[in-house]
Amino acid sequence: MTLVSEVRLRQILDSRGNRTVEADVITESGGFGRAAAPSGASTGEYEAIELDPTEAIASAREHAVPRLEGQVYVGDQRDVDRTLGAADGTDDFSEIGANSAVAISMAAAKAATDVLGTPLYQHLGGAFRGDELPTPLGNVVGGGEHAADATAIQEFLAAPVGAPSVQDAVFANAAVHQEVHDRLDGRGIAAGKGDEGAWAPSIDDDEAFELVDAAVETVAEEFGFEIRFGLDMAGAELYDADEEAYVYRETTRDADEQIAYVADLVDEYDLAYVEDPLDENDYEGFAELTDRVGDRTLVCGDDLFVTNVERLRTGIEQEAANAVLVKPNQIGTLSDAVDAVELAVENGYRPVISHRSGETEDTTIAHLAAATAAPYIKTGAVGGERTAKLNELIRIEQNVSTP
Ligand code: PGA
Ligand code: ZN
Repeated sequence: MTLVSEVRLRQILDSRGNRTVEADVITESGGFGRAAAPSGASTGEYEAIELDPTEAIASAREHAVPRLEGQVYVGDQRDVDRTLGAADGTDDFSEIGANSAVAISMAAAKAATDVLGTPLYQHLGGAFRGDELPTPLGNVVGGGEHAADATAIQEFLAAPVGAPSVQDAVFANAAVHQEVHDRLDGRGIAAGKGDEGAWAPSIDDDEAFELVDAAVETVAEEFGFEIRFGLDMAGAELYDADEEAYVYRETTRDADEQIAYVADLVDEYDLAYVEDPLDENDYEGFAELTDRVGDRTLVCGDDLFVTNVERLRTGIEQEAANAVLVKPNQIGTLSDAVDAVELAVENGYRPVISHRSGETEDTTIAHLAAATAAPYIKTGAVGGERTAKLNELIRIEQNVSTP
């Protein structure tokens, strides 16, 4: 396996038009890998630190690049990632920036695949991976931090749980997205799109539930398989610590009321998935909700766990959830993200690999999901930076099913 010969860093645009870090990793044998960091808007308090891209690049050039060039073999991903961690020297990548770290980590993995001539999912997961592919959760309506003057709940996610293939699931989610639009149109409600491409109409949550429920049913009939839906409530964004309450458009709910509200929603709409139903500090509230509905829906921690094995371990001890969102840039490297997946799986938690609201054309998370046999991936329904990953999953599916 060959040594890293050069790491090149630059700023490019993400899907929101913000600058982000892109890395090229070049090997002594001429291997090449390129990757870019995504960026969140409803960012968890405990995430690894994203620095201003100018600072992140300058710091990574000073501290990390000299430790990689001529020193580290690209095929040894753990060594690449350990080197990034040692070069940074903090526990949250606040020195070189999680944005520089994750871009370099992912670019190194791609450079290795270029040298090895294997697909990325196989390099990350081993020869037999790619056999189980994730069900995509498609964001079709939303608001919160992703769109102004829209629903209080951040994301309504189509969940095509009965789809016979990834390709069918991807097409079904796009059809639900379209069906929601047609129904909004029929009611004379104009809607732009939020950061992830979901419709962001100025309607309340109740109307959104009714709309998505109907859209999902229509498309399920058309496609002939079961489609449910789920939510990302982004509870930490709804929660007002001073008021000790979750603040919606017209009402507020204290923690007990929030738990009861979500439990009722799970039953009323047969929700397949509920992400961050409570604040990122409320392990207890998560545990109570999971106790109530965890047998019939996924209760997933995003801001609660931030892809961090320490926080996930606390959650496992407290039986806080039954699923974990995995975002490589929340923790800084691919190795750390895989560690979170492995800890989750060992403890019966379902890993859900995820994009961020600010994305690029980078497709690494599609490969990470296939490599880890994750049962779900959250990467939008439409929009170029979202379809980049969805279309890559369709290609991976074809690749593994047609030898
Ligand atoms: P973010 O949102 O990327 O803006 O943090 C996505 C999510 O909360 O899952
Ligand atoms: Zn989330």
